[in-house]
Amino acid sequence: MRAIDENTITDAVLEQTSSTPDARLKQVMASLVRHLHAFARDVNLAPDEWLAGIRFLTEVGQKCTPFRQEFVLLSDTLGFSSLVNALHDRRATESCTKSSLLGPFYRQDAPVMKLGESIVVKTRAPHICVYGKVVDSTGKGIPDALVQVWEPDETGQYDLQRHDPCEMDLRGRFCTDPDGRYYFRAVCPLGYMIPMDGPVGDMIRAQGRHGYRPAHIHFLIGAPGYREVVTALYISGDDHIESDTVFGVNESLIATVKSSDPASPLPNLPSLRYDFQLAAVSQREVISGRVGVDPSQITTKAG
Ligand code: BEZ
Ligand code: FE
Repeated sequence: MRAIDENTITDAVLEQTSSTPDARLKQVMASLVRHLHAFARDVNLAPDEWLAGIRFLTEVGQKCTPFRQEFVLLSDTLGFSSLVNALHDRRATESCTKSSLLGPFYRQDAPVMKLGESIVVKTRAPHICVYGKVVDSTGKGIPDALVQVWEPDETGQYDLQRHDPCEMDLRGRFCTDPDGRYYFRAVCPLGYMIPMDGPVGDMIRAQGRHGYRPAHIHFLIGAPGYREVVTALYISGDDHIESDTVFGVNESLIATVKSSDPASPLPNLPSLRYDFQLAAVSQREVISGRVGVDPSQITTKAG
């Protein structure tokens, strides 16, 4: 019998799990075991530290509800979601808009709206016009692309964080016109602190981090035959644009609110303009670029 000790344990686990029929599951789990064991050796993990980790992960799970996903937040604050986004972007075979975090506030059933309508329901703040095109890798407009948008209000709060999280505000779904154009009324969002009243907040404080995200508007854009893009536009000039707690900012996603813009379809409003580029789906590829989901889809068991 093989003696199980700190030198043999990793191989013992890999040997026992080598019978996994699903090849990808086998590869992912074997790598996870190798890295997890290497981590414990690297930091010389003590039993009370192991228990603190188990307690922490338990609290993360207990904090999850149909309206809140603390595990996604943990992934985001450790840079893990942004890493998965970057790996997804690297697999594109045509140039396209960079991914950014989906975050914990996406809802799949936002109201369907006509171009030019307002996503502002409850919020009392001046409107801006958000507009642009959805184009392919050659710059040609993509008609009927689905543009899903959601944003925090002018105080940095999402509808899901208000006293009745069932009421929707500042989110909508639009279809691009025959030239690939989209436009709608929104508000200029404020940056905000990520939810800090759970175990992830405790971690952020223990690490001496500020916990802020710079102001941004989220987008999830898809069209048949194209890779879906999950991204966000970051408002230039925000104090935390260089130190986002969840590492979502890319220079190419920074946009400026102009006070006057004759090219805007709603020229009387301040405007934010951005053209999104989608890459065609290559063969054998997963189309979804979502690193996250509507939280209710995780707490509800499939099937
Ligand atoms: C967000 O942008 O909605 C978000 C992303 C990651 C963590 C918290 C919030
Ligand atoms: Fe956000």
